[in-house]
Amino acid sequence: MPKKVSFDNKKFELFILSEKIEHIVKNLAEKINRDYRNRNPIIYVTLKGAMIFASDLIRELIIDCKIETISAKSYGMGLRSSGNIEIKEDEFDLENKDIILVEDIIDSGATAMRLKNFFMSKNPKSFTIVSLLSKPEARIHQVEVKYLGIEIPNRFVIGYGLDYAEFGRNLPDIYILIQ
Ligand code: IMP
Ligand code: MG
Repeated sequence: MPKKVSFDNKKFELFILSEKIEHIVKNLAEKINRDYRNRNPIIYVTLKGAMIFASDLIRELIIDCKIETISAKSYGMGLRSSGNIEIKEDEFDLENKDIILVEDIIDSGATAMRLKNFFMSKNPKSFTIVSLLSKPEARIHQVEVKYLGIEIPNRFVIGYGLDYAEFGRNLPDIYILIQ
């Protein structure tokens, strides 16, 4: 894999190798398999950022589960969260269901909070969040992430589903913006 990548004058360097990501994902799946044994959760994948993470995570799950997607846009084309979170509604009969929301990264926490409020309003039996990454220093909205992969500094990252202006999602490793 390249040590550095760049997209319109923004330079990023290699930060988390795919081998390490794989290890983190397997650990998270193990916990979910243990906690959800004999339950049939509905797993909501937050598009688009979490799709790569979710596809690896889901294939490690040995519980019987359903997969759904939900769309929540916040960054738009920039490096900062717009704070403007759009939820695309589909079909949501979630009463008495166990919901697991899959996120790529928790930054300010606004998206996760917004989605949590949305799901809680559907009266599920339970609601938990799994996120690959978290930037604790950036947190404004406190939201519990029961299954967290790894904490990272308050810097912009791309790869493994995460984008900068829609680029970089296909990188197998995670890269960090060079300041
Ligand atoms: P929040 O609402 O501020 O927590 O932002 C969460 C969303 O912003 C994530 O689901 C990502 O789509 C995006 N995001 C936050 N930090 C990054 C980053 O470092 N790189 C790419 N996208 C990010
Ligand atoms: Mg994004």
